[in-house]
Amino acid sequence: MPIAQILQQRRQKLAKLVDFPVLLWSGDRPSRNFPANQYPFRASSHFLYFAGLPLPNAAIHLEHGRLTLFMDDAPPAAALWHGESPTREQIAAEIGADAAYPLTDLLPTELPNAQTVLQPSQWTIDAATIGLCNEQRSDQCYILDRSVNAPNCPEDRDLALAQAIVQLRLCQDAAAIAEMRQAAAVTVQAHKAGMAATRSAQTFAQTEAAVRAAMEQVILTHNMTTAYNSIVTVHGEVLHNEHYHHVLQPQDLLLADVGAETAQGWAADVTRTWPTAGKFSPTQRAVYDVVLAAHDAAIAAVKPGVEYRDIHLLACVTLATGLVDLGILRGKPEDLVASDAHALFFPHGVGHLLGLDVHDMEDLGDLAGYAPGRNRSDRFGLGYLRLDRPLQAGMVVTIEPGFYQVPALLKDSSRRERYDEQVNWERLAEFADVRGIRIEDDVLVTDSGSEVLTASLPTTVAEIEALLSI
Ligand code: GLY
Ligand code: MN
Ligand code: MN
Repeated sequence: MPIAQILQQRRQKLAKLVDFPVLLWSGDRPSRNFPANQYPFRASSHFLYFAGLPLPNAAIHLEHGRLTLFMDDAPPAAALWHGESPTREQIAAEIGADAAYPLTDLLPTELPNAQTVLQPSQWTIDAATIGLCNEQRSDQCYILDRSVNAPNCPEDRDLALAQAIVQLRLCQDAAAIAEMRQAAAVTVQAHKAGMAATRSAQTFAQTEAAVRAAMEQVILTHNMTTAYNSIVTVHGEVLHNEHYHHVLQPQDLLLADVGAETAQGWAADVTRTWPTAGKFSPTQRAVYDVVLAAHDAAIAAVKPGVEYRDIHLLACVTLATGLVDLGILRGKPEDLVASDAHALFFPHGVGHLLGLDVHDMEDLGDLAGYAPGRNRSDRFGLGYLRLDRPLQAGMVVTIEPGFYQVPALLKDSSRRERYDEQVNWERLAEFADVRGIRIEDDVLVTDSGSEVLTASLPTTVAEIEALLSI
């Protein structure tokens, strides 16, 4: 289906949910030391969902399913530095806009009474604050971001727009799923390239950066970008580690959490953990198999109607069962999970929504992740659960259990005291070469169950060791 038609369908669906005009900004491209030296541009995901193209400094006005595009044509001088750019009219035709005007036409004509989701850039904040929230119009403006000084902006419309966007973006349409399949396929290739690069990187005393480069090379080769900052680390116990300077040692496990993003902005999010020397040690293998059991059990449970929170708890109980079998935890697995003892080793949630963003729609707080009336738990084992809804066909979620020995948790005296009976600390010390393991896949909820979009990337010890030997 042509992109213009897909976008039109999304707009029509929005028009059924809200009866007020909506204005969405793409955001701008911040500069470093001089205006033309710019950071890479990433359009706002709400803009991308309805406009389809990553257009910097653009806005779309949506009302009753009609799209009006506001953007400036490139100035003539830009051709010297950037070559020929498509005109506003050409872009408008491509995305199926009903009308198109220069950006400067936006403020006087279109802003009053429009609802928006602010993007975190000074340009959009300025435009919205000046255009929507000056004194004369303060009774008519509606802005989601309360950090902007927007007096008298009724919050009910903020919420109505956010809820409508969540309702639309929660379940992916066929075009989005096609994009996510592409991101997933390239991500799988990137992980295989990372595995293939690891043994020689270790042999030649290279750092994590060498493996990261091999992985991101695949993504760049497909003219995609990374959907988030890659994590490629021998210190997987640092959950979002973004350092790449450690030399690979033969006894290390390497945790790689790397995902591609398509040109239209759709993400993949995948983690694998593998031994740098090609073979898991007995202790690494034992814990890996426990995490894999939790991963497999959680994925097997994914289907419409199932509570994601229950999938999280199933992963926790499976992990606790495995750790009891290894002698690391003591007690009944259900009791261990009820007291959050498992969270000493698996402190985060089993996953999150995936779509245009890697943690999809978390710019709206927990509005997307938590069903109405539900709130984050303050329990140690549940507080980082990012999704607490019944699953619906069309949702894409990650499943990503892990095992980590986080010094800040395990050396904390109050936690050690609290869980002293439940943890066999002497036995745990025998697993010192297992600092961090995570296994993460992207799972589409289907009408009858699920489809793992990243299933072609192996997970078992035997398959991973085989890939490392290539
Ligand atoms: N890549 C970040 C995450 O898995 O949540
Ligand atoms: Mn994830
Ligand atoms: Mn990840």
